[in-house]
Amino acid sequence: MGLVKNLASTRRLLDIDDSYIEALRTCGSERRLSSKDQLYVKKIRNGTVIDHIDSGHALDVLHILNINGKRGEVVSAVLNVESKQLGRKDIVKIEDRELKPQEVDKIALIAPKATINIVREYEVTSKKRVELPHTIKGIIKCNNPSCVVNAREPVISEFKVEVAEPLRIRCHYCGRIMGKEDVLKQF
Ligand code: CTP
Ligand code: ZN
Repeated sequence: MGLVKNLASTRRLLDIDDSYIEALRTCGSERRLSSKDQLYVKKIRNGTVIDHIDSGHALDVLHILNINGKRGEVVSAVLNVESKQLGRKDIVKIEDRELKPQEVDKIALIAPKATINIVREYEVTSKKRVELPHTIKGIIKCNNPSCVVNAREPVISEFKVEVAEPLRIRCHYCGRIMGKEDVLKQF
């Protein structure tokens, strides 16, 4: 299966060991579950569900969150499942962890339609769509080597979001335009 093969090579690339994806139970080519009540991955008791991730970006989300399975996190990723809103989507479920605002901002850059669901005692207690701010300060570097933010003086990077999808951001200092691929290289 192509997806599984790609996944295997991506995992090798990211140096991820096998334990970190507790369940990767389905992909687009598999038969859909028959009952509406059945889930691809079981509900979690406490933690965070990142839903409506653009399909193909679940592993990038894990990478942003520094999840490599080596700290014993219990994490499930579901790739390329059907979604009414998006056609296809990915989902990441992380047990016993809530995200920092900066992590959510990074996710917004690569998965602008994602929703962050906080789960407590099996209930979704908060559901927020990620928000891409108009200005992004400090979380990405300008990829122009001669930009002032890459000089020795500490200058905090700043980008204006010109287009959310496909992502197009412009460096406030040198005008360099960057896209999703440029951003992903830094995470
Ligand atoms: N979820 C979970 N464990 C729980 C509760 C919810 O893994 N204890 C997951 C659900 O499987 C779903 C996501 O968290 O992927 C959001 O749950 P919920 O709000 O109940 O689902 P929907 O109403 O379908 O969400 P939306 O309207 O955002 O599409
Ligand atoms: Zn710049």
